[in-house]
Amino acid sequence: MTVPEPRRSIWEPARLGPLTLRNRIVKAATFEGVMPRGQVTDQLIDFHAEVARGGAALTTVAYCAVSPGGRVHANTLVLDKNHVPELRRLTDAVHTEGGLVAAQIGHAGLVANTRSNRTKTLAPSTRFSPPAMGLVRGATREDLDRVIRDFEDAARNAVDAGFDAIEVHLGHNYLLSSFMSPNLNRRKDEYGGSLERRAAFPRRVIDRVRRSVGDSVAITAKFNMADGVPKGLWLDESLRIARILEADGHLDALQLTGGSSLLNGMYFFRGEVPMAEFVASQPKMVGYGLKVYGPRIFPTYPFEEAFFLPMARQFREAVSMPLILLGGINRLDTIDNALAEGFEFVAMARALLRDPDLVNKFRDQQVSEGLCIHCNKCMPTIYTGTRCVIRETLR
Ligand SMILES: Cc1cc2nc3c(=O)[nH]c(=O)nc-3n(C[C@H](O)[C@H](O)[C@H](O)COP(=O)(O)O)c2cc1C
Ligand code: SF4
Repeated sequence: MTVPEPRRSIWEPARLGPLTLRNRIVKAATFEGVMPRGQVTDQLIDFHAEVARGGAALTTVAYCAVSPGGRVHANTLVLDKNHVPELRRLTDAVHTEGGLVAAQIGHAGLVANTRSNRTKTLAPSTRFSPPAMGLVRGATREDLDRVIRDFEDAARNAVDAGFDAIEVHLGHNYLLSSFMSPNLNRRKDEYGGSLERRAAFPRRVIDRVRRSVGDSVAITAKFNMADGVPKGLWLDESLRIARILEADGHLDALQLTGGSSLLNGMYFFRGEVPMAEFVASQPKMVGYGLKVYGPRIFPTYPFEEAFFLPMARQFREAVSMPLILLGGINRLDTIDNALAEGFEFVAMARALLRDPDLVNKFRDQQVSEGLCIHCNKCMPTIYTGTRCVIRETLR
């Protein structure tokens, strides 16, 4: 007779690579919007200390660029040596609250606003990019070797700053994700063509990040299951890539996402499209462009609790490595059921913007559901200090 495995508990400490997390809940990256010209500010530190105080086991400092050219815009932090002392204050503050902290590292690729950055960006192959408002050229091999070194340096700087984990951004059609996408990667060399070749560049990056930091920190990847656009990455390929990444053995977990910040910005949010607020947050010309092209780039998807679960289940069947379920998690029973289905962790973004104390409230059985209503009006606040507009009203 086989003895059933005991049900995973949300509240028991759990291993993530070399780390022990105090529970199974991760705060997913939400660009904090409080790094003017890339500076670490007290607001950034307070943001993450508050999440840690609220009970999440691991908070994620959102989108740290590996180089100036890899920034989304000029107010993005570059994880270079200069920022290590200030970031140490941030990691110390999170540790004081009993939490752990990850740095999400990436290169924006086609998503970079090059006018704001005043620096060129890179693409797998030359194409027009709306955020760059022009053509972005396909990277040479030398460019890509440079990007790999930038990832190594950024990862080492993260460790020097006291981060417990590194989340490599392999999603949302940022540079590494765009290499895997058949519609964005038209290269003819060893980094383009077959699925194995399109996966080669992200694999090299992950391999080198792991070599550069060793086994003392956890390394995860935020990984696209599907781009959500015609001819983009879909499950037939992403499942095979996940298996390749598992066999490579460098990652401690995959956080499963989808969508494209370039071509389909609502796929990984669902819910209402805050178009008026988006238009108001942009300079006049961009706002005008948004009015015209916005409905195409931001189609409406109805919100559903745990909207990525049906796709994520395919990954649970395909690989045995730890998986982090993300997307529309707002309820305690959703977390419990995800763990029962074999996911090791869940990640929550908007639910914890709405209420950073939600994890403690779940634990203390004060509530069983968060208050986020998926209006997405927090999205345009990334330009002025990311916040839930409802929470702000009630303060
Ligand atoms: C305001 C805001 C900013 C975000 N910034 C990032 C980011 O910098 N990097 C990233 O990978 N995802 C980012 N996301 C996406 C979230 O990590 C997450 O994938 C998405 O919100 C779905 O999770 P949820 O339903 O729990 O909110 C952001 C989300 C929001 C709401
Ligand atoms: S503004 Fe608040 S309620 Fe609306 S989606 Fe964002 S976190 Fe949720």
